[in-house]
Amino acid sequence: MRMGLERAFMDGMCLGNDMSIQSIAVLGAGQMGNGIAQVAACAGYDVTMIDINQDYLDKGMVAVKNSLSRVVKKERMNQDDADLAIAKISTSTHKNAASSADLVIEAIPEIPELKFSTFSEFDEICKPDAILASNTSSISINAIAKATNRPERVIGMHFMNPVPVMKLVEIINGSATSPEVTQLVLDACEKMDKIPLSCNDSPGFVSNRILCPMINEAILTLEEGVAEPEAIDGIMKLGMNHPIGPLALADLIGLDTILHIMNVLYEGFDKDPKYKPSQLLEDMVVEGKLGRKTGSGFYNYE
Ligand SMILES: NC(=O)c1ccc[n+]([C@@H]2O[C@H](COP(=O)([O-])OP(=O)(O)OC[C@H]3O[C@@H](n4cnc5c(N)ncnc54)[C@H](O)[C@@H]3O)[C@@H](O)[C@H]2O)c1
Repeated sequence: MRMGLERAFMDGMCLGNDMSIQSIAVLGAGQMGNGIAQVAACAGYDVTMIDINQDYLDKGMVAVKNSLSRVVKKERMNQDDADLAIAKISTSTHKNAASSADLVIEAIPEIPELKFSTFSEFDEICKPDAILASNTSSISINAIAKATNRPERVIGMHFMNPVPVMKLVEIINGSATSPEVTQLVLDACEKMDKIPLSCNDSPGFVSNRILCPMINEAILTLEEGVAEPEAIDGIMKLGMNHPIGPLALADLIGLDTILHIMNVLYEGFDKDPKYKPSQLLEDMVVEGKLGRKTGSGFYNYE
């Protein structure tokens, strides 16, 4: 975002070979998808944001506009550049809108079968040299790649939440991902003013293999009546110097997403009980208490 848009556009135009990334399709306009669309547009890419209905797309665009006006207010960008970035994003409810994209970044719910069928579909829709990336938090990149006929062009691009603020993108190389694809994706992350760090495919990768069991443990601590949410979060913030407590973080991420990730870890590590989702987490998801996105989780947001 710090990079002037004009320079970013010129850089894009200078990358005149076949393998350069000029256009990005983002699948899913939810909290991650709209954030990814924003940082990609700010880097000068042509962005198409795709979702299943217009309401989600409209909400996604409102989120982008609100986020950019906060950036302008903080004088980190001028209004003209913000307007230019917004104009770079088009929206569609049709998957075919991704047919000419150089890079597709999928950010739909963390459900393995949904990711597999979607990648299989996009393998048909997208041009043969397009890179298909997933923003999955935990699902095997090798398993996603297997759903396509281009496993060498499938990779994990795990942006952190909130995308416009967080620097890291965890890059997950599948066993077939080509070094050329990895390099193009690393370059794209840097152009989006992010810091990409690479790892190999394994359940939960690095970030969520460590983070989500900690959040699950915090939920167990609450479930067992050891302390109230404010105390659990306060102890972890003040005692461990964490910027946000684990329960407030679970509300930010979405309890449904945390449960999906714990299930991927539990199954992926042969039902090792240390990854078993807590009963309270399961119950809250069934009750629709998903955190900030539903207005209620461990805390209320109304
Ligand atoms: N929430 C986080 O903190 C976080 C962080 C990093 C990665 N992720 C990952 O990002 C992905 C998305 O998470 P999110 O928090 O943005 O979820 P979300 O629920 O906010 O958004 C998901 C969006 O996908 C859309 N969608 C569902 N099925 C679709 C389909 N078939 N085609 C197109 N769009 C479809 C939904 O309508 C919704 O708008 C998940 O894989 C999640 O694990 C989430």
